[in-house]
Amino acid sequence: MSKTTVIGGKASEDLARKLARKLKAGFVSSEVRVFPDGESKITISNVPKKGRIIVVNSIYPPVDTNLVQTLALISKARQFSSSVTVVIPYLGYARQDREFLPGEVVTLSVIAKLFKAAGASKVIVVDIHSSMGMRHFQIPIKNVSAVPELVSYFKKMRLANPLVVSPDLGGAKRAEEFARFYGTDYIALKKRRDRRNGKVEIITTDLDNVRGRDLVLVDDMISTGGSIVKATEFLKRQKCGKVFVACTHALLIDCADKKIRRAGVSQIVSANTIPGSTSSVDVSGILAKAVLNA
Ligand code: R5P
Repeated sequence: MSKTTVIGGKASEDLARKLARKLKAGFVSSEVRVFPDGESKITISNVPKKGRIIVVNSIYPPVDTNLVQTLALISKARQFSSSVTVVIPYLGYARQDREFLPGEVVTLSVIAKLFKAAGASKVIVVDIHSSMGMRHFQIPIKNVSAVPELVSYFKKMRLANPLVVSPDLGGAKRAEEFARFYGTDYIALKKRRDRRNGKVEIITTDLDNVRGRDLVLVDDMISTGGSIVKATEFLKRQKCGKVFVACTHALLIDCADKKIRRAGVSQIVSANTIPGSTSSVDVSGILAKAVLNA
């Protein structure tokens, strides 16, 4: 029987090891040396056995560096196998899935082409920002939802009459899925983002059904924390109970976690697609299932 080998990129080493254990696959780590000019020199620690290769690496900040390292690992893997599945737990650039303002480059479509050119046969991502983004890939791509795993975490906590809230209408489907697994109801706020400076505001005016209830704000990602801060400030004004945040990808740029806690959030819970202080939810189990079915 041919063997599966997981190659772990530096950005996702722990998750890659967990995935290899779940798949009972071999594991090959990678070493990165960054040259003084910023170039990455990547070396894999062993030669993978004959068979399928799974390359695991997230594309979180430094996004361009992690992207290049991922492409380099894919191309190295392709030297040993014609079956290279690429697991990208967090796909940076996924928000650049369309031309919002005239002249903008749809960079996700460029990256999708680069994956194929480097030698990827299949791609697996976790909670991609939009299904539209998946259309840019010319090789099979599968999106895995971390929502059931996030819900399992919340089920172990004691919340008072919980209500699931999406900070924007775009996340309503995710909030609906979360609420369904959780066994409660959900609402979605209306948010406006200035496309030029990135600033957000909540344009929902008032709400009655949050009074006294503990809330779980559900989002695919937290970057600057602006969306969560604005949503929390608004919800607190509506006299809700405690506010918790469940998100898949916690980038937490510029101490966003501190700003979010200052706005009144009791706890942020995220997945280990991006390792960090809030990433208590492990997605290696759902990734293993996705790899086996891919
Ligand atoms: C937007 O549509 C996304 O789902 C997130 O709400 C957004 O990207 C989070 O960014 P930030 O934390 O900077 O508001």
